[in-house]
Amino acid sequence: MPSQLQCMDCGATYPMNQVIYACTACGGLLDVKHDWSELTITRELFDQRLGTLDAPYRSGVWRYKELVYPDVPDDLIVSRPEGNTNLYHVPKLAAWAGVDTLYLKHEGENPTGSFKDRGMTGGVTQARVLGMTRVACASTGNTSAALASYAAFAGLEGIIFMQNRQIAVGKLAQGLAYGATCIQINADFDRNLALVRQISDELGIYVLNSVNPFRLEGQKTIMIETIQQLKWHVPDWIVVPGGNLGNSSAFGKALYEMRQLGLIDRLPRIAIVQAEGASPLYRAAQRGFDHLEPMKAETIATAIKIGNPVNYPKAVRALTWTNGVVEMVTDQEIMDAKALIDAAGIGCEPASACSLAGTRKLVEHGVIQRGESVVGVLTGSVMKDPDAIIAYHSNQLEDITPTYQNRMRQAGDSVEQIKSILLGESVPTP
Ligand code: F0G
Repeated sequence: MPSQLQCMDCGATYPMNQVIYACTACGGLLDVKHDWSELTITRELFDQRLGTLDAPYRSGVWRYKELVYPDVPDDLIVSRPEGNTNLYHVPKLAAWAGVDTLYLKHEGENPTGSFKDRGMTGGVTQARVLGMTRVACASTGNTSAALASYAAFAGLEGIIFMQNRQIAVGKLAQGLAYGATCIQINADFDRNLALVRQISDELGIYVLNSVNPFRLEGQKTIMIETIQQLKWHVPDWIVVPGGNLGNSSAFGKALYEMRQLGLIDRLPRIAIVQAEGASPLYRAAQRGFDHLEPMKAETIATAIKIGNPVNYPKAVRALTWTNGVVEMVTDQEIMDAKALIDAAGIGCEPASACSLAGTRKLVEHGVIQRGESVVGVLTGSVMKDPDAIIAYHSNQLEDITPTYQNRMRQAGDSVEQIKSILLGESVPTP
């Protein structure tokens, strides 16, 4: 049977070639459902493809084509290629967080500098399958950068709805650079998402926010690739930042399916970490997931400044499948964890540092045990938000103390002054 779309609530199914983002019967979110009964899917199949120079399998998304979109013709795939990101073993950061074994999966190493490329290759490929010529999204900046790039690469028109405040400068620049139609709108992310859905429906534009289930199929491969890099050993915990909750939802689906297929024999636990000022999932978790209470979001981690996440039901499902937890961290904790990841030579954007800050907090709260192995996902590159870095290290962030400050030294054009700096002060090691 070919793949199809299925409502996660009422089970209604739709063909893959229908432009649809929610169940027309009950409004529920849609999943892409594949039929694997005719396919042989093994660890060996994916291991054989490692290191290949051939498209599409050289991509860290399409290496797992059977799990992402088995029936799609290879010549319709739009791939830069993405994925194949590093998994760093970081003993010093592990010690800081309070665990013996910590890896950081660096999704900022994707072509446009964030994990969104993995979803976008799936989404833009589906736009081509459907014959759509225009694609659009609302974004806190990374989805829009990825959309702009992949649309240009595929010869489609990219359209992006951005907040007019608080989008990191690297992301703003990318949208313009890749030639998308960029519209700054005086509204927050949550409102922009509602606007893009309404306007795209009316104008026949394809929506590529994570409400689009093809995006999530690509993002599943973060989990598959991580576990393959661990030689198919399953870690105890996956720690991931949560905003619109597409990524954590995709992780849950990936892990569930991998176990179903026998690629793994147990599931790691997922910990979703939100910023305190944008924590509707955390608050819902405190109330036993009775319902989602949208909130006005505020955090320095602008990527996750989201108060009404569309993928809430899928994220709750991912937490249920994996016996997962939700944690919350302050902006101070985010920026300090980021400074340490940066100073380790790895670097990430503020939202990504929720993974390390959240791991430390979950250890403090006795949820993660010292002996358990943890993979933290770094979702975006250090180069996305240079303003936040400079403001932190020059102590210009309101209500944040730069605990791990790397102060800029000043010297005149003077050998003596420069030497006195180098002789008088030791180089800081956070
Ligand atoms: N980290 C970064 C760097 C992000 O850009 C995002 C989301 C997240 C984490 C959260 O992922 O939404 O799947 O829970 N950024 C979106 C955007 C919303 O528009 O770029 P999520």
